[in-house]
Amino acid sequence: MIEEITGKKLVPLFDEKDLKDRVKDLGEQISSDFPEGVTIIGVLKGSFIFVADLVREITCPVQVEFIGVSSYEGTETTGHVRITNDLTGDIAGKDVILVEDIVDTGNTIDYLLNVLEVRSPSSLRICTLLSKPECHQMQHQLDYVGFQITKEFVIGYGLDLEGRYRQLPSIMQLIDP
Ligand code: IMP
Repeated sequence: MIEEITGKKLVPLFDEKDLKDRVKDLGEQISSDFPEGVTIIGVLKGSFIFVADLVREITCPVQVEFIGVSSYEGTETTGHVRITNDLTGDIAGKDVILVEDIVDTGNTIDYLLNVLEVRSPSSLRICTLLSKPECHQMQHQLDYVGFQITKEFVIGYGLDLEGRYRQLPSIMQLIDP
């Protein structure tokens, strides 16, 4: 069905167990790095499922915020990032981790880090479930990475194609047939 709509071949990449195991590792790492507590900022919309699972694997005190951005149309980045929903809380003096579903060019992360740094958090790190190193053009380093993948478009576990397929429990690649 998805293959007929998109004209691409759908290839399974990470199943539910792969995702659960890796998210658990990331939660343990974050808990041990921030025993006093941490503020997680999920980047909407793609990170909402990852954030929901990640915070349940974090054992230190955790606060959750979301920030909404928009930059993609179809499978192509527009290169222009804008905030569609801002934070509700103050991050000054807090240890903050910005949580992305996927870092492709890194434009979104660069833009958001510049916006958040001026709000004076005590520390600011980046966590992403997926990273496409061959597409990176960004200035900042990634602190926590779930999986490195190739440049093909992926859907599922929160990641969408034109607003659809976020609810797929595993991550699939869309490959040219
Ligand atoms: P970047 O600014 O190029 O790093 O793009 C980051 C954002 O683009 C992510 O938060 C996603 O919303 C979206 N994105 C990039 N690659 C993919 C993909 O393969 N599938 C779904 N969304 C993607």
